Amino acid sequence: MHAVVLVGGFGTRLRPLTLTTPKPLLPIANVRQLEHLIASLGAAGVTEVVLAIGFKPEPFFEAFPDGVCAGIALHYAVEPEPLDTAGAIAFAARHAGVSDTFIVMNGDIMCDVDLSTLVAFHKSQGAEGTLHLTPVADPSQFGVVETDDKGWVQRFVEKPAPGETSSNLVNAGTYVLEPSVISRIPDGQRLSIERVVFPAMVADGTLAAMPTDDYWIDTGLPSTYLRANLDLIDGTRTRILASVGPQAHVHSSASITHSVIGEAAIVEEGCVIIDSVVLPGAHIGARVRLERSLVMGSIGAEASLIDCVVGADAYVAPFSQLANAKVPDPEGAV
Ligand code: GTP
Repeated sequence: MHAVVLVGGFGTRLRPLTLTTPKPLLPIANVRQLEHLIASLGAAGVTEVVLAIGFKPEPFFEAFPDGVCAGIALHYAVEPEPLDTAGAIAFAARHAGVSDTFIVMNGDIMCDVDLSTLVAFHKSQGAEGTLHLTPVADPSQFGVVETDDKGWVQRFVEKPAPGETSSNLVNAGTYVLEPSVISRIPDGQRLSIERVVFPAMVADGTLAAMPTDDYWIDTGLPSTYLRANLDLIDGTRTRILASVGPQAHVHSSASITHSVIGEAAIVEEGCVIIDSVVLPGAHIGARVRLERSLVMGSIGAEASLIDCVVGADAYVAPFSQLANAKVPDPEGAV
């Protein structure tokens, strides 16, 4: 079975981290997010993954030079220009010659759903497409999905007002599709699957949905990217990964609490690091305090950062006191 993984977004909300590394290649507990996703696809019987790349393919080629990720063969489909989600899925599926039931996954989610169950549900429904749905506490910021009691999608309600819908289920970013969905998408056209193709399938009565309450998170924001990392080291997920990556140098006097230290990162003496992610190769100077922060670059001694995001190549001067800051400021860096 093929899977198409959408990795062509701009990752605007995760800047400055995504100014140098595409979102799906950022590590989550020292394993690239894409590797987590592809391992779960492999466990469900996927044998070939098509990466739908909208722009800047080089980091993907460099990350997987032998064209294999988590033991699965990769196929690169590089759009001539970003084609939005439906355009990208159709471009990738045509590129790889997909001609049977296939899975589509957004490259910026982390999820414990059993994908084989989703495929089996899709087949038992005889659906043209099946969405995985997840419940959210506050649906007002999402596109909510309403289904009937047989699992067919009836309606999408975008950012519902209170009382507008009784559903709290949202599109979780994983789909099982039949090849006929590709025929609905004109070649080379920029088109959204969520806003155009799925509503057309609802009108035809061919779109099913399966809600589950498995672990699910969209890693597209600094706060959720941070949480996705910590959830993998503290037992929130079904698996627990090591919190300190290989070749990391953490001084014995540093105090690290509920945090991930990336591969080959350096944490000097007397640091206090709480609820944070120090990304691979970052350098944290002596007696720095980090709280709820994401750091790719370099932090000078005695600085204090709370709720901050520091990109690669950035340098925070010694003794800085920063809160809610992005370095460099993505508004100025684009
Ligand atoms: P933000 O810019 O922060 O909103 O992130 P994003 O660009 O990733 O946008 P969004 O979360 O809405 O995208 C959902 C999924 O579709 C992600 O996995 C994106 O990588 C992917 N995606 C969005 N647009 C395109 C596109 O034009 N081409 C491809 N190949 N993938 C896309």
